[in-house]
Amino acid sequence: MRLPRSVRVADVAGTRVLVRADLNVPLENGRVADDSRIRASLPTLRLLLGGDTQHVRVCSHLGRPKGPDPALSMEPVEERLRELLPDERIEVLENTRFDPGETRNDPEFARRLAEGSDLYVNDAFGSAHRAHASTEAVAQLLPAYAGLLLLAELEHLGRLLESPERPFVAIVGGAKVEDKIGVLRSLSQRADKVLVGGKMAAELAARVPLEIEIELPTDVVAAADFSPAAELEIVGADSVPEGWLALDIGPETRDNFVERVASARTIFWNGPMGVFEWPRFAGGTHAIADAVAASEGYTVVGGGDSVRAIQELGLTEKISWVSTGGGASLEFLEGKELPGVAAIPPA
Ligand code: 3PG
Ligand code: MG
Repeated sequence: MRLPRSVRVADVAGTRVLVRADLNVPLENGRVADDSRIRASLPTLRLLLGGDTQHVRVCSHLGRPKGPDPALSMEPVEERLRELLPDERIEVLENTRFDPGETRNDPEFARRLAEGSDLYVNDAFGSAHRAHASTEAVAQLLPAYAGLLLLAELEHLGRLLESPERPFVAIVGGAKVEDKIGVLRSLSQRADKVLVGGKMAAELAARVPLEIEIELPTDVVAAADFSPAAELEIVGADSVPEGWLALDIGPETRDNFVERVASARTIFWNGPMGVFEWPRFAGGTHAIADAVAASEGYTVVGGGDSVRAIQELGLTEKISWVSTGGGASLEFLEGKELPGVAAIPPA
């Protein structure tokens, strides 16, 4: 795998550095609800400050604003970052997506971002699949380096692509098939088993013929609706009563998936097995989380929902690598070149 050159080889003393981090974090009532991505960005910032940089300008997008939007201001993110890393040399720029030039990968917006900086460090793995001004165009304007998080993500996820220890089992769930069909195709060629749960499983089962080799649920937990009073039934995956919804994998599928995970030496998990926000339909997702955490093999979890399930169960420390990228980790595992990585000169 081609690795981009590391910030470690940059001569940063006395320089002004523009850092692109992925500080796209969830907000609740105007405060940061989960600061994992902010914490994950600290090693690179500390490295730069410790290297006697004169000034560090940090930029990121936050949410998907169509233009300036006070509800998506970087202020709460900046506040949290300052609590974690108080240093007067750090400046946090406003949400890059407030400027329409960001998503257009506009060189003029990139020029404004680069102004006043001598070096550019991209540490935003979670945004590396976007060819945007702050991830791509700006790397053409300043000497560009990869941050420590970006490199760690490439190295950890790279282990899944390059001679993973076998058996290699991938578990993919979630709702949207279209987001994941590419990675399913790729994983079905690389992994020994690809287990699929979640809403997308039913949709995949209906696609005949399916040219990719995956294992689908045999039974599901079905309910007429989401209400806590609604009756539940365990039924065959192809026997969900008319008008009912399959909201979790069933016990037989759960046991089968857990057994496959238990015997694996390499595991990748992305996406919940059901509507785990409701405790009644969280059993499948929690069983997978527990099984992945219990594995002594090499385990990687990516994607917002599965990472949240791992966090809620307090299992983060038991996973070899919890990725900060959702879409980016999937595109990487699909074998696609990530524009934010390609824009940095090789090591
Ligand atoms: C993410 O949270 O998936 C990344 O920050 C990328 O955000 P985006 O999907 O809005 O480009
Ligand atoms: Mg996303």
